[in-house]
Amino acid sequence: MNKEKAVNTIGVLTSGGDAPGMNAAIRAIVRTAVANDIKCLGINRGYNGLINGDIVELDSRSVDGILNRGGTMLYTARCEEFRTEEGLKKAADMCRYRGIEGLVVIGGDGTFRGALELAKHGVPVIGVPGTIDNDIACSQYSIGFDTACNTALDATDKLRDTMQSHERCSVVEVMGRNAGHLALYVGIASGATAILVPERTVDFGKDIIDKIRKSRIQGKNHFIVIVAEGFGKAEMVADKIYKMTGIEARVTVLGHVQRGGSPSARDRVTASRMGFYAVKLLQAGKSGRAVGLVDSEIVDFDIGEALLMKKDLHEESYDVSRLISN
Ligand code: F6P
Repeated sequence: MNKEKAVNTIGVLTSGGDAPGMNAAIRAIVRTAVANDIKCLGINRGYNGLINGDIVELDSRSVDGILNRGGTMLYTARCEEFRTEEGLKKAADMCRYRGIEGLVVIGGDGTFRGALELAKHGVPVIGVPGTIDNDIACSQYSIGFDTACNTALDATDKLRDTMQSHERCSVVEVMGRNAGHLALYVGIASGATAILVPERTVDFGKDIIDKIRKSRIQGKNHFIVIVAEGFGKAEMVADKIYKMTGIEARVTVLGHVQRGGSPSARDRVTASRMGFYAVKLLQAGKSGRAVGLVDSEIVDFDIGEALLMKKDLHEESYDVSRLISN
């Protein structure tokens, strides 16, 4: 990174769906700023708060006791007005009015898109990936993913107990929007017989039903099938399984429980490192950058280029899941 430059005031906000570890990132941003004599303003309710001036000053003590807490102390929102030219202009004017010389935004794809637009309006912005979907292409990892995986895994392990007793099939729908990363990880970790993700097409009869039938003949009495919400409805999958195998299937849609909970060590550490790095970027006079984790190192990319990148499922993991889970 370049030589540090004086930045007097920065802002931080969280936007889009919350993710466990966002608080840890806020804490790191505030404390890194304070340690460098930079005033830090917390913007409540995402880009809405920027437009409306819903802003509070944060010091080191304001972020006490949040490291282990899920959610976000700054609240979050999805903001329609910010998508308009007028909304963007209001937000940029608010930054100038409040003396915000650099802004760190924590969130997913939509948050990064907003950051890009705001940077075009003259506000130095840094994006930090925070989403349980892990679908920010420039980063191998997004804050919240590990905790969400573990929450979904814990629920799936519990479902296995009852499926085993009743000799049923559990069809578990997990979040992930249009991505199957969460489903893939939870599926491997829970030993699911099948994992259905939007990134891969399956021959339902051959890949799912034949697999279940074969294992059933070998003596397996219960099954777990993980469905990414982006693939389709778990109800439809369960229905087909019952009709084609005669095995009773039960659906569980895990829903928003996956977004809550105390962040895992991995999420706390990654969030702390990314938050620290984001402030350093602002101190170095950088703008329009997306923070990412690549091969264990925190790095940054042009945010416009980052948004054009594509992220596929981890192919080897997908192969592993298909071969060893039956
Ligand atoms: O992006 C995070 C996420 O939890 C997705 O996995 C899910 O599709 C979406 O947000 C749900 O959004 P909302 O909380 O607005 O219902």
